[in-house]
Amino acid sequence: MTATVTYEHLLTSVSGRVATVTLNRPKALNALSPALMGELAEALVAFDCDDAIGAMVLTGSERAFAAGADIKEMADASVVDMMRREFLTVWDRIAMLKKPLIAAVSGFVLGGGSELMLMCDMVVASETAKIGQPEINLGVIPGAGGTQRLTRAVGKVIAMEMVLTGRQLTAAEAHSYGLVNRVVPVEVYLEEAQKLAAEIASKAPLAVRLGKDAVNQAYESFLRQGLAYERKNFYMLFGTEDQKEGMRAFVEKRPAEWKGR
Ligand code: CAA
Repeated sequence: MTATVTYEHLLTSVSGRVATVTLNRPKALNALSPALMGELAEALVAFDCDDAIGAMVLTGSERAFAAGADIKEMADASVVDMMRREFLTVWDRIAMLKKPLIAAVSGFVLGGGSELMLMCDMVVASETAKIGQPEINLGVIPGAGGTQRLTRAVGKVIAMEMVLTGRQLTAAEAHSYGLVNRVVPVEVYLEEAQKLAAEIASKAPLAVRLGKDAVNQAYESFLRQGLAYERKNFYMLFGTEDQKEGMRAFVEKRPAEWKGR
């Protein structure tokens, strides 16, 4: 079990096999400062390594999932400062998590907030969510995936409009572009995300891990290599006790009992 750790900019909780991490910098609309991102990577990696956890939920407040990278902390930076600080490097650790991470977003999901959402594996949005890449209004462009993951998610013309005009999408638009799994009333968006996480956390852990790994491979390779990668992961699961249990349980018409081995 992950030891209880207190963070300055986060709240964490565990219910069953689901861990929830809440961004908690309300006065700055959860602006993603290096300190906050360092804590976030630490908390998520700890849950990722904890056998008692099957899936994670990342959320913010009703008013803001996150209003972007912290503008005040980078306003005076030079190119050299930005390169030396490598403040975006820590973000990569979130994209490399092995367990599913579900974003529960509401209110402002802007700039780095939108990019953080795009690093998650699934998204439940409240009806109030506004998703955008407003960096163009600051004289810059997205720097944490907002031109790459976003384009793969919504296609070229929508990504181009968002990046070059800063226009924010409504939750309904985001859903129609396949950016979010579902849109629900603000009162229940977190609960819905936690339910989805609990459902995934009830499945065979190694199959979940290799399933996430194989889907992500679709973004990293040509189709032929991706299919070979998927097949390797599929074959690999036949070395697990859970595959034997899952298929036997089907034949014997009973629920499977997963061991994560
Ligand atoms: N960085 C630092 N502080 C931020 C912030 C950010 N990204 N977003 C909001 N805040 C702070 C505000 O400065 C304000 O603090 P003070 O009270 O101390 O002045 C507080 O949060 C509340 O914000 P507002 O008073 O502006 O609230 P609002 O309701 O009038 O407006 C908003 C909300 C439209 C989200 C507006 O705050 C805003 O436009 N924020 C910036 C959004 C943005 O440009 N994000 C991109 C950042 S760059 C980036 O993310 C780069 C990357 O790709 C990694």
